[in-house]
Amino acid sequence: MANVKFYAGEQIPLEMHKVRIIQRLNLPDVEQRHAAITEAGNNTFLLGTEHVFLDMLTDSGVNAMSDRQQAAMMLADDAYAGSQTFKRLSARVEDIFGTPYFLPAHQGRACENIIARTYVKPGHVVPMNYHFTTTKAHITEMGGEVLELIREEGLEVESDLLFKGNMDIDALRSFIAEDPERVPFVRMEAGTNLIGGQPFSLENLEQVRDVCREYGRILVLDASLLSDNLYFIKTREESCKYLSIREITRRIAACCDIIYFSARKLGSARGGGICTTNETYFRQMRPLVPFFEGFLTYGGMSVREMEALTVGLEETMDEEMINQGPIYIGYMVDELKKAGVPVITPGGGLGCHVDAMRFCDHIPQEEYPAGALAVAFYLASGCRGMERGTMSEQRNPDGSEEFSNMELLRLALPRRVFTLSQVKYAVDRLVWLYENRHLIGGLRFTEEPEVLRFFYGRLEPTSDWQEALVAKYRADFGDSL
Ligand code: F0G
Repeated sequence: MANVKFYAGEQIPLEMHKVRIIQRLNLPDVEQRHAAITEAGNNTFLLGTEHVFLDMLTDSGVNAMSDRQQAAMMLADDAYAGSQTFKRLSARVEDIFGTPYFLPAHQGRACENIIARTYVKPGHVVPMNYHFTTTKAHITEMGGEVLELIREEGLEVESDLLFKGNMDIDALRSFIAEDPERVPFVRMEAGTNLIGGQPFSLENLEQVRDVCREYGRILVLDASLLSDNLYFIKTREESCKYLSIREITRRIAACCDIIYFSARKLGSARGGGICTTNETYFRQMRPLVPFFEGFLTYGGMSVREMEALTVGLEETMDEEMINQGPIYIGYMVDELKKAGVPVITPGGGLGCHVDAMRFCDHIPQEEYPAGALAVAFYLASGCRGMERGTMSEQRNPDGSEEFSNMELLRLALPRRVFTLSQVKYAVDRLVWLYENRHLIGGLRFTEEPEVLRFFYGRLEPTSDWQEALVAKYRADFGDSL
């Protein structure tokens, strides 16, 4: 406290700091990590955060908010119906996307539930650049099927292709042409999550729109990871170089009939919503909001989160606010690449994606190489990542495994949360693990839920490989954590 004399004569201490929030972290030692992951059924989703050093599970609901977001939360108007907070949010959504109709929902998958229930009937097929886990679950739940039409190069792990999230336009046109009525809508996912947070180009989206218009099909955009995709369009797509982020957003929105998003990602808050310029679509989906979510002016979100989202969406239009994630991820990807660790290139949004198919090429897909790598990385570092491979798939109706195209360990970098030295630590431990990769073994389920099994299924190692890995860690790092 500074000793400052006030003109008016008051004698009070004057704070010389500004208030920021930090959260203390704990780094358990390797033996404690072994005990914790065993207790968690070798599923990183089941670890308590008290056992986690750097939480790289997801970027969902854990991005750092700005001071303006935090401040806005204090001004929320708590009302069951007709809240001014909702008016501010829906006005902001309209301002950004140009969509006058907005339906709030508690998170992204709730929007998927509403869209799937409104449009998907048994026998329908929904073409998309690539599926997301919860999207597919909702569509199949309604008796529909998902058809992935990502361009072939999108699935190449190492690539210099800048827009790996692009849809194969010829394949889309010929599929729809066969039987347009079978296609309730086409879905494009921004920052395509399961192939490594990879963007589509504006040009590709415009081509998808043209095909949809040609056959009178609805185009739905999953904008959950839009902020990363916007940054990549701005920096990688030559024809968009001189457009502002806001202009690019408007052009994207103008292609789409329905836009939905998880506000746990977009806008760095917690919630979700569906917006459209089409009153008919709005009226078709609207009854499901009070049914599943809450009244039409909050949809399951807290008013505080809605205020934070209103500000967060505006901040998404600021390139300086949305470039931190992709730039940090690019740094991590480059460092790993330099050390020879196989990662998805080019770096995308959301996080750094390690290629478990190559990292653990001695583990067969039926023993979940990406799940095993997630466990091994937790043992080696106390950092938790997420399996994005065969474990994240659902078994086929005959009980056989649906092998994933890619086996990835996703190390999410929630926006503005980690320091560079923390990222360096994760890289260091991953490099060590890569040098010792032959010690990693497979996993098998001991409890396997039928739907979305990766969330809470339990597994065990197929041998005593974890003991060997822990022993090697001790031998190499001595008594260091
Ligand atoms: N769509 C995409 C592209 C997503 O990445 C997610 C969530 C959802 C929809 C569902 O949104 O979680 O708010 O219900 N992705 C999180 C993740 C879970 O970790 O990647 P939600």
